[in-house]
Amino acid sequence: MEHLVINGQRQLCGEVSISGAKNAAVAIIPAAIMAQGKCVIENLPSIEDVYSLVDTLTNIGARCEFVNDNTLVVDSSNIIKYCATYESVKKIRASYYLMGALLGRFKKAEVAMPGGCNFGTRPIDQHLKGFKALGAEYTISHGIVKLSAQKLVGSNIYLDMPSVGATINIMLAASMAEGVTVIENAAKEPHIVDTANFLNMLGARVKGAGTDVIKITGVSELHGAEYMIIPDQIEAGTYMIAGAMAGGDVLVKNIIPKHMDPLSAKLQDMGCVIYEGDDSIRVISTGNLNPTTVKTMTYPGFPTDLQPQMTALLCVANGTSILTENVWDNRFQYINELKRLGGNITVEGRVAVVEGVRQLMGAEVNATDLRAGAALVIAGLAAKGITTIGNVKYIDRGYEKIERKFSELGADIRRVKSE
Ligand code: UD1
Repeated sequence: MEHLVINGQRQLCGEVSISGAKNAAVAIIPAAIMAQGKCVIENLPSIEDVYSLVDTLTNIGARCEFVNDNTLVVDSSNIIKYCATYESVKKIRASYYLMGALLGRFKKAEVAMPGGCNFGTRPIDQHLKGFKALGAEYTISHGIVKLSAQKLVGSNIYLDMPSVGATINIMLAASMAEGVTVIENAAKEPHIVDTANFLNMLGARVKGAGTDVIKITGVSELHGAEYMIIPDQIEAGTYMIAGAMAGGDVLVKNIIPKHMDPLSAKLQDMGCVIYEGDDSIRVISTGNLNPTTVKTMTYPGFPTDLQPQMTALLCVANGTSILTENVWDNRFQYINELKRLGGNITVEGRVAVVEGVRQLMGAEVNATDLRAGAALVIAGLAAKGITTIGNVKYIDRGYEKIERKFSELGADIRRVKSE
């Protein structure tokens, strides 16, 4: 078992370079199944979710080879299976993209219902509605979704809510359908644009990604390509919030500053100084923070995946902040862990009321999911004394070299193995 052990209250100063986007990687790796030739995927984050997906692709017959830590070559010419078992997909929510990719290429797919972080019910009805509109039939039995179609035919699909997963999954299948598919009320997150760009490099014809109407003209075959994944908006946000909380001066490099607008605006409201470069943001904070109001929304709103880290920050603001979670119905499980560190938080439904305290105190805590884990790291860095974080496996799902990156900023953080 591994723990992260943090001796808090070190100022964070210096530069941190952000890795490739996890949520783009977990869509682009399955999308590579659809290509007849070799795909070279660069700037992949070195994280557990990527390794789990690579294992799954290997199990179905794709040849996957890491050229270095962050570059993967996928050759899907000889895929022999279109089934992904629960054993191989249980750790990652995004395994659902195997459905769209296999259905698009082989017109059939058998994929176990996804695992991943548990924050309330995580339905996939909109994904299935989309596949059905394209002409696929499906059954769900014993946790396995079986999809098949004689052929896929383009269709008009209106999503009940702008679901990231459904938008990407439909984009994948529709890329190899006959005719034109239009997705309305599509999600607009940066990794949707990135996945569309990757598909287009393979020869797909996807237009409008990043707006709420996406038009896909199907093609009969996709070929290999080289592609570089965008930087991770959420990892970048995590380091920006850490810099704000620790009262430091942190330059977050290799990012797309535009993706950070909702967070940059909030940190400015709270009293931080933000300098935006072409591909970097510098956060300067005295640690003297104003309280604020945060409402999570789909992009370009404040990302739900930065909500736990933001709650950690609000714990040390000078007053009462209100945080409303509008995307997930149960994303506050980690609050009890923040309370162990001295956070004064009350949750009522989707709203958390955070009363700022003068200082957090180190304690033993457990990550309850990926971003909750990141929130505990940030809180531990700001807390007085020693914080020990268990369930590090959640953090490793989505953060590359987290202890090394924070150490390089001046934090006292180490990974400890125990029986
Ligand atoms: C993706 C991200 C996740 C992030 C979330 C919201 C990946 C791999 N994961 O998850 O980190 O928190 O976007 O930004 O990219 N919903 C339905 N039916 C569906 C699909 C979704 O009701 O068929 C609802 C969900 O319950 C949720 C909301 O829509 O309330 C948003 O979900 P969605 O955007 O699909 O999230 P994911 O793609 O699973």
